[in-house]
Amino acid sequence: MEKILVLTSGGDAPGMNAAIRAVVRSAIYHDMEVYGVNMGFQGLVTHDIYKMNEDSVANCIQRGGTILKTGRYEPFYHAEVRHKAVEYIRQNLFSGLVVLGGDGSFKGAALLAQESNIKVIGLPCTIDNDIVGTEYCIGFDTAGNTALEAIDRIRDTALSHERNFIIEVMGRASGFLAVDVGISGGAEIILIPEFPLSNEELAHKIQKNRRKKMASILVVTEEEGNPGASFKLAEEIEQLTGINYRVCILGHTQRGGSPTLRDRKIASLMGVKAVEALRDGYTNKMVAYNSNHLTLVDFPDPHNGKREFDDKELLSINQILCDI
Ligand code: F6P
Repeated sequence: MEKILVLTSGGDAPGMNAAIRAVVRSAIYHDMEVYGVNMGFQGLVTHDIYKMNEDSVANCIQRGGTILKTGRYEPFYHAEVRHKAVEYIRQNLFSGLVVLGGDGSFKGAALLAQESNIKVIGLPCTIDNDIVGTEYCIGFDTAGNTALEAIDRIRDTALSHERNFIIEVMGRASGFLAVDVGISGGAEIILIPEFPLSNEELAHKIQKNRRKKMASILVVTEEEGNPGASFKLAEEIEQLTGINYRVCILGHTQRGGSPTLRDRKIASLMGVKAVEALRDGYTNKMVAYNSNHLTLVDFPDPHNGKREFDDKELLSINQILCDI
């Protein structure tokens, strides 16, 4: 009987549990044994692994986070650490591994595929939606809806007090989350890393204030590695314009919570596709969602960076809708 492993790695994303469930249930359906690895690649090295059955994934489709736990395990980039995992896989006759994660995780997954006989398939999971090769990553829709709900709440208090707000969303170095949330939340300004504005340009935009609005919302992508940079931005805007902005950092609230219908469905289909790919003998591939179809693509080239938001037209549409 074929034996496969499943693990989650990197930052968690809502929908990961739905994908684990689909991998486990469809592997068992095809008479495979499935083993869950706790804590991502670390668990593969420390052998923190257990056999899963249909019940192991009962009642998890609606839960955020990951029942397998996760982490960013830097030692896995060292060959001697990976060697321990390779040996374990060889001794225990595992033939397949499904890795749920982002591009950091896929770097480890690709190395493992090249250095061992195990077939490795990745499922793209990140609220940033920034993995090269796929238009959609599990978790993005839920995170966007969570941020949207927060904006709606903030707008209530902003209007009542006639206040302006900067709302900082996650995204690491990509503006996908900020753009979708900003457009859907009616943000007057959307500021993303791919189309930066100088403080002076931003001040000019704010001062134009064509409709003389007394409350406005600026959605900004966090600064990579520096969450909370919006406080400094607010000070700088105030110095240039005299206009006060309250700041709200949405942070990790965007990573948790019950996955939306879209995330549950795409995660479920991707999980099934991953097992199908293993059965068909594929390795070193990622399941991608492009133009409403699931396909298998190469793991992203680690030298290629992140997928960037490049739809300038969409940003200009927001200007038509919400220009202040
Ligand atoms: O990649 C997902 C993400 O949530 C980014 O948006 C954010 O920059 C980062 O992870 C935060 O990482 P951590 O949970 O390790 O603080």
